Amino acid sequence: MKTAITELFGIEHPIIQGGMHYVGFAEMAAAVSDAGGLGLITGLTQRTPELLAKEIARCHEMTDKPFGVNLTFLPTFSAPPYPEYIAAIREGGIRIVETAGRSPEQYMPTLKAAGIKVIHKCTSVRHSLKAEQIGCDAVSVDGFECGGHPGEDDMPNMILLPRAAEELKIPFVASGGMADARSLVAALAMGAAGMNMGTRFIATKEAPVHQNVKDALVKATELDTRLVMRGLRNTERVLNNKGVEQLLEIEQAKGKQLKIEDIHDQVAGVYPKVMIDGDMDAGAWSCGMVAGLIHDIPTVKELIDRIMADAERIIRQRLTGFLDDAGKRPVAARAIA
Ligand SMILES: Cc1cc2nc3c(=O)[nH]c(=O)nc-3n(C[C@H](O)[C@H](O)[C@H](O)COP(=O)(O)O)c2cc1C
Repeated sequence: MKTAITELFGIEHPIIQGGMHYVGFAEMAAAVSDAGGLGLITGLTQRTPELLAKEIARCHEMTDKPFGVNLTFLPTFSAPPYPEYIAAIREGGIRIVETAGRSPEQYMPTLKAAGIKVIHKCTSVRHSLKAEQIGCDAVSVDGFECGGHPGEDDMPNMILLPRAAEELKIPFVASGGMADARSLVAALAMGAAGMNMGTRFIATKEAPVHQNVKDALVKATELDTRLVMRGLRNTERVLNNKGVEQLLEIEQAKGKQLKIEDIHDQVAGVYPKVMIDGDMDAGAWSCGMVAGLIHDIPTVKELIDRIMADAERIIRQRLTGFLDDAGKRPVAARAIA
């Protein structure tokens, strides 16, 4: 399939694996890129720029296909040295960066001077327009369904995507709630040029996380996520567990007085406990409502091939079948699976 996104990034399929803390290691990014999508290493999971440089080098050994790096600008307990991370990205030969969290405006001149294409992930039309204005090449439009930080507008993709299509000139991908061919075709119908998946990619054979995490995603339904840190205007959608229930109790008890320190134990240092140790009650880790659409743990290639084959079937059979003249077209045209 050819779209503005496959052309922009030189990839075969319009499918991106969003940056994911403690998931976006070289194994994940390489598997997605090798299968024809765009894999992303999560920059800040590497504790120093030197470690990121090593992770990029490791990924180059695993795939010849293009892959990128996610650079997240979020409130953290200690601010990372972003210029050094960007230097590691540039020197590692990376030409695609996904930014997220805050506007990358401050770093755009450096990124552009290095010939890097920037796709900014954000949760509103106004932030998408700002990304376009500061020279981003594409946007990843993240709806309220998404795992991670959906912003504070609570805007689901059925509204957000067509609104983005009305306003944007640069290409965009749909992000949040994307799981399969139905998601991809719907996203294309609403004006996107592809899709970005986070949670779905965790439930794959290659995802370098504990088996308990993959099993939890297969077991979870669309009702099992919770929104935390709303009072801090740093909303995160997470999979419910005992740690998250404690967090929500603290949030309720503290009300407007809530400070990040009050929930430190339930949000800080949780990712290694979940992703490496498989402790599923450790606290808040990002997970999308799309968990309700995850029923198996295929390889990344099986997942992407299935999405692309099913998308073709949906477009050629189901959608064209609704047209008035569908029955009049030659049988061969209708039979393509
Ligand atoms: C476990 C997990 C960790 C994530 N970590 C990050 C991150 O560090 N930076 C970032 O920009 N997005 C992060 N995200 C968001 C994803 O890149 C993506 O935007 C989101 O998962 C899309 O929604 P979906 O989960 O419904 O596919 C994370 C998502 C998950 C599920």
